Amino acid sequence: MELVTLFLVCLMAVSSTSAEVESKSKPGRGRGSMWWGIAKAGEPNNISPLANGMIYMDPAIHATLRRKQRRLARENPGVLAAIAKGANMAINECQHQFRNRRWNCSTRNFLRGKNLFGKIVERGCRETAFIYAITSAAVTHSIARACSEGSIESCTCDYSHQSRAPQANSMGAVAGVRDWEWGGCSDNIGFGFKFSREFVDTGERGRTLREKMNLHNNEAGRSHVQSEMRQECKCHGMSGSCTVKTCWMRLPSFRVVGDLLKDRFDGASRVMVSNSLRTTVNEATLSNRANPNGLKSPNQVGSSPNSVSSNSIHARSHQQKKINRYNFQLKPHNPDHKPPGMKDLVYLEPSPGFCERNPRLGIQGTHGRQCNDTSIGVDGCDLMCCGRGYRTQEVIVVERCACTFHWCCEVKCKLCRTKKIIHTCL
Ligand SMILES: *[C@@H]1O[C@H](CO)[C@@H](O)[C@H](O)[C@H]1NC(C)=O
Ligand SMILES: *[C@@H]1O[C@H](CO)[C@@H](O)[C@H](O)[C@H]1NC(C)=O
Repeated sequence: MELVTLFLVCLMAVSSTSAEVESKSKPGRGRGSMWWGIAKAGEPNNISPLANGMIYMDPAIHATLRRKQRRLARENPGVLAAIAKGANMAINECQHQFRNRRWNCSTRNFLRGKNLFGKIVERGCRETAFIYAITSAAVTHSIARACSEGSIESCTCDYSHQSRAPQANSMGAVAGVRDWEWGGCSDNIGFGFKFSREFVDTGERGRTLREKMNLHNNEAGRSHVQSEMRQECKCHGMSGSCTVKTCWMRLPSFRVVGDLLKDRFDGASRVMVSNSLRTTVNEATLSNRANPNGLKSPNQVGSSPNSVSSNSIHARSHQQKKINRYNFQLKPHNPDHKPPGMKDLVYLEPSPGFCERNPRLGIQGTHGRQCNDTSIGVDGCDLMCCGRGYRTQEVIVVERCACTFHWCCEVKCKLCRTKKIIHTCL
């Protein structure tokens, strides 16, 4: 774990350096994505607020935030730690999903004004789409969980399910046995979703095609988190009779989100912009997108079409400006393909080859990467090494082994040396 020493510097003192960095970054490309650098702030504990309204952190990290993002951090004490945790979750998940591929989601040492994921972000390819979706999903996830854990001052558990009548179970209520009740502490997906939109989408105005691509992928990441929310329950009552059940909605594990987004990466759509607005497509889809709060319980949305129309006209016009940013339909590059759905990842241009090192494009190449000589997939030596061939070596691996547990509480292990055959690309 890389630990960056954090300097105690007042928020005010760094605002001039931040403005400088913002103006230097390329317009339109990765405008809203410099906050990813927050992942390198080290342990989330290191950026806890010391006093209400004042946040102390490494000025170099702080400089990666845009003005609106700094305001959001100030107004919601505790969010920075959650965002840093989310950014690290995103990096770890991305590197897990891509561990066996030519592009392996490596991050660069954090340098001020440089993008954490490197120059790949300047392109509008599939890999870029994945990075945006996974980071946006991770912030949604991390904030929703931090709310229910009580580590953000401006949000709590979601208790909104409490007031609703318990759903009838499929067999109907049995006399004398109570149905389950909401009442548990649900992860606050409503807050997480909205906060991610505000924070992550800052700077993506949706005017250029690239900004629309980013917005679409950010939104796709969030909606995968949202739709994987599951109901969990706990029984109460004498000797486990379960006469009363308390239920709540819980976030999926982030691995589930990573797996889903990787599937969408494999089936990503190449797009261009169409003229039609999403309003004409489907009113229900529009209000769902505009009002994540209406989606707190996915099973309720499915069973009750009325929940969609619960928005008052007034609330809708108030949110009109926000809606418009997400109110577009991207058109498939190939007219024979279906238009991308809300959960699909979209990209604008084919990926560069990741075979050879190319510093101009920020590509490391696959020289020296380990490969699997019996696999015919992307981790196989043929594909990973791009036909250059590979070297086979016998290496001695030192591992802990024959571990025994000693009362109490110690585990003692031996160090074992085992021989392993590894293959590395030339
Ligand atoms: C990714 O691949 C590069 C070589 O191309 C290697 O140096 C790096 O350690 C790999 N990173 C991860 C996270 O696997
Ligand atoms: C190599 O690939 C084969 C076939 O896909 C697989 O069974 C095996 O577990 C892989 N080996 C490693 C070390 O990943």
